[in-house]
Amino acid sequence: MSTFQNKVVWITGASSGIGEALSSALASEGAKLILSSRRKGELERVRSTLKAEDADILILPLDLADTSKTYALTKQVIDRFGRIDILINNGGISQRSLTKDTSLDIDRKVMEVNYFGTIALTKSVLPYMLKQKSGHIIVISSIVGKFGFYLRSAYSASKHALHGFFESMRMEIYNDNVKVLIVCPGKIRTNISVNAVTGDGSKHNVMDESTDKGLSPEACAQQILNGIRSKQEELFIGGIDLRAIWLKRFFPKLFSKIIRKQKME
Ligand SMILES: NC(=O)c1ccc[n+]([C@@H]2O[C@H](COP(=O)([O-])OP(=O)(O)OC[C@H]3O[C@@H](n4cnc5c(N)ncnc54)[C@H](OP(=O)(O)O)[C@@H]3O)[C@@H](O)[C@H]2O)c1
Repeated sequence: MSTFQNKVVWITGASSGIGEALSSALASEGAKLILSSRRKGELERVRSTLKAEDADILILPLDLADTSKTYALTKQVIDRFGRIDILINNGGISQRSLTKDTSLDIDRKVMEVNYFGTIALTKSVLPYMLKQKSGHIIVISSIVGKFGFYLRSAYSASKHALHGFFESMRMEIYNDNVKVLIVCPGKIRTNISVNAVTGDGSKHNVMDESTDKGLSPEACAQQILNGIRSKQEELFIGGIDLRAIWLKRFFPKLFSKIIRKQKME
């Protein structure tokens, strides 16, 4: 039997990209799914593509920037399914703007969605997992959660912050049978750069060349499922871009020299 058969899995950012691919892969493995993001219509489109019974899918729109409704939404999930086995904190936005051109409002916006929205949802789900004495919390960070990069000061900061939060929490709940997996994807072929915000809050609307050549979201989703199955604590997904993580850790000066020469996109 699949690890995910009949498991209740809540996925944020389920309306596109990696979240959509995760929804499809998990539905095929027999999971019961809660699909969340802002765009209800897109969640319904994703739902229509899934191999799943209607009773096993709940569409639950949410805006990660609005944490006032988080606890009520979590209660809705518990009322429907009675438990939450896996929370996949995948929803997020990227940024494409120089630090000097980025208003503080945009720094805050990116932090509200990627960091505060994610930890608020996690804090609302955690008590149920602790009571169940089981659970798995996944957070989709990024390789820029491990090092900074051009045009991503706010985005990279929001992803770095997730590591501090989730590594601390993982230690605290180690003996409660609630696991934490931090995923750091490199380039994955989604609309992440198209949907990114610029310094004044407008949509970037450009597909980065490197993202377009990235790994497919389906392959990324399969690696995430393997990471959950094998109870990994941290998972790096990508191609040659992953070398930057090791270079930064062991040869920081050389890393600085090489990374500065990368294309600014
Ligand atoms: N693609 C990559 O190369 C890459 C690399 C590293 C990390 N990541 C991370 O992977 C995750 C998924 O991104 P993706 O690549 O699949 O990009 P994507 O196609 O743009 O998907 C982003 C998802 O997040 C949702 N979202 C955005 N703002 C939201 C908000 N305020 N409230 C709720 N949901 C929100 C979007 O749905 P709605 O618009 O419907 O709200 C969408 O479903 C993100 O956390 C991203 O940072 C991606």
